[in-house]
Amino acid sequence: MPVLKNINLRVDKGELVAIMGPSGSGKSTLMNIIGCLDSATSGDYQVENTSIRSLSDNALADFRNEKIGFVFQNFNLMPKLTARQNVELPLTYKKISSSERREKSLEMLKLVGLSDRADFYPMELSGGQKQRVAIARALVTNPSFILGDEPTGALDTKTSEQIMDLFKRFNQEGKTIILITHEPDIAQLCQRTVFLRDGEIIDDKIN
Ligand SMILES: Nc1ncnc2c1ncn2[C@@H]1O[C@H](COP(=O)(O)OP(=O)(O)OP(=O)(O)O)[C@@H](O)[C@H]1O
Ligand SMILES: [Mg+2]
Repeated sequence: MPVLKNINLRVDKGELVAIMGPSGSGKSTLMNIIGCLDSATSGDYQVENTSIRSLSDNALADFRNEKIGFVFQNFNLMPKLTARQNVELPLTYKKISSSERREKSLEMLKLVGLSDRADFYPMELSGGQKQRVAIARALVTNPSFILGDEPTGALDTKTSEQIMDLFKRFNQEGKTIILITHEPDIAQLCQRTVFLRDGEIIDDKIN
């Protein structure tokens, strides 16, 4: 049985989009397709005029690493790596010298306000700080867009607001961002909300 049906979605560069919908409506499935982690059984998906279907597995892995930044509800940081080393991770696949990797990572940590936590391990950081490290990691490759699956789902209200401030700031600087959220307050902070129900887009509105 198809999970998603008749999906027709276009996101333009520089948008900040929330995806909402009840549990089981297909949000994560859609996100996995947008993030090139999964492919649809039919239909076409293009990122900047590249049809994802046309890429080999290797090319797809490179494409994903380079073009898409992921932020997850549970941060997904590597526990044995420091904040800086976590941010460096997406750069290790690229042909970049270690000093340049280090420099870029510290620059990103500075942008998320964590210069003083670069050498801390994830377990030494608060939830909000962990998510800021994850955002720095998502942005360090200068991706085409950022995808967040409930990025504030594990955070208290005040910390969620700080994380949304950060997303908004990067969006104002031109980053395209797509966030899944259960929280109307979070969606309200985005320019546009797409609602899914039973695998279909039932509403797509400007906030
Ligand atoms: N790998 C899979 N194989 C078969 N069915 C799946 C698979 N993954 C998800 N589904 C089904 O697809 C539907 C949508 O799931 P999805 O995880 O996309 O929902 P969601 O909107 O993200 O829900 P939640 O808010 O609970 O995270 C569900 O009915 C689920 O059972
Ligand atoms: Mg989900």
